[in-house]
Amino acid sequence: MSEKVRVMISEEDVNAKICEIGKQISKDYEGKQIHMICVLKGGAFFMCELAKRIDVPVSLDFMSVSSYGGATTSSGSVKIVKDLDETIEGKDVLVVEDIIDSGRTLSALLEMLKKRNPNSIKLCTLLDKPDRRVVHVDVDYTAFSIPDEFVVGYGLDYDQRYRNLPYIGVVEL
Ligand code: IMP
Ligand code: MG
Repeated sequence: MSEKVRVMISEEDVNAKICEIGKQISKDYEGKQIHMICVLKGGAFFMCELAKRIDVPVSLDFMSVSSYGGATTSSGSVKIVKDLDETIEGKDVLVVEDIIDSGRTLSALLEMLKKRNPNSIKLCTLLDKPDRRVVHVDVDYTAFSIPDEFVVGYGLDYDQRYRNLPYIGVVEL
């Protein structure tokens, strides 16, 4: 129960990068309102920190999905565990994720959300593991691209633990 966690990206570096992305997003969405959608549970810490660094009007909603893990890219490969509370029709949606790995979950989720007629839809991720990509996903904002290692912290878990770490780490078993 007491694995060691090696720091991959420090708290200072994560926070500085979130400030930077927040500024960029604020600029890109000038004059608009952003409807941020958090993919639970992993995206929660990142979304809250990011939302605090955005200075255009923001509204928030949450959804939870579970991946069937199949090789299909159709929306049938992702199951909605908790749907959004509000409609996204006509809104400028920004989906906020913890990490893009194979890309399966996100590509299926984006297809599903696009059918609900948002005005625009963009994707922001804290981490990207490009080496692991199986399905192509257009990512608009990436805080950090990382090598193929299993990471925890800042929302990411190992067996539901470590989500609360204020940095990104690697569990050393
Ligand atoms: P994918 O892109 O559909 O393969 O799935 C991405 C999801 O897998 C993320 O939202 C995480 O929940 C999980 N995941 C992928 N890589 C990691 C990791 O390194 N640490 C923790 N969770 C991960
Ligand atoms: Mg996730």
